[in-house]
Amino acid sequence: MQLDVVTLFPQWFEWFAEQRHISNAVAQGNQLRALDLREHTPLSGGQVDDTPFGGGSGMVLRVDVMDAALRAFYGIDPVELPRKRRVIALTPGGRVLDEALVNELAAEPEVTLICGRYEGFDERIVQHFCSDAVSIGRYVIAGGELAAMVVCDAIMRKLPGALGDAESAVEESFSEALEGDPEYPHYTRPAQYRDWGVPEVLLSGHHEEIRQWRRARSRERGAACDDASLS
Ligand code: 6GU
Repeated sequence: MQLDVVTLFPQWFEWFAEQRHISNAVAQGNQLRALDLREHTPLSGGQVDDTPFGGGSGMVLRVDVMDAALRAFYGIDPVELPRKRRVIALTPGGRVLDEALVNELAAEPEVTLICGRYEGFDERIVQHFCSDAVSIGRYVIAGGELAAMVVCDAIMRKLPGALGDAESAVEESFSEALEGDPEYPHYTRPAQYRDWGVPEVLLSGHHEEIRQWRRARSRERGAACDDASLS
């Protein structure tokens, strides 16, 4: 897949791209590009944002700047873009990212993530250039870059060859194999530490009993998650 991030801080993604599962995914033929929003601004002095109409604090990314940037990157009028690829505005008020959305995005051939800064985007950017708005949770962080990294990480680790042999996305938290529940608890050596043992069944060598024990713990955690999110 081709995953593009439009950002005012493309250099932040250099470190990110060096992380093993990301570099593995890229070595498998996938692409991760950080595109500099400021590079193509038609305004003087590298200006990209402006004060909000109606007043209020903060700065808003300008629609004309985003238009020029997307047009330069993709060579088409960006109003056509959402018909050709998933274009996602990262904003705290968007659809909250979950495993279902990650799987949906991982199946797309081409995705663009647009990072907001300051107070966010001129709404016309979201309306006319984007197919979706996505949030990583109901809290606010200073800009979309870290959110973009979360989305990229979650997507790219799903791509074939991203994870090493020792890792697997098959039986992990929220997977189909676990019927959408979180993962069961893990233990390793030492079997006894201070006065903390490990569940006997895991040392028993009875594969079917271990499987049942894990399934049960996974279900308990799933129920606890549901209770926490309802309260
Ligand atoms: Cl996508 N952006 C910002 N600035 N804050 C967020 C977010 C995104 N998702 C949750 N909080």
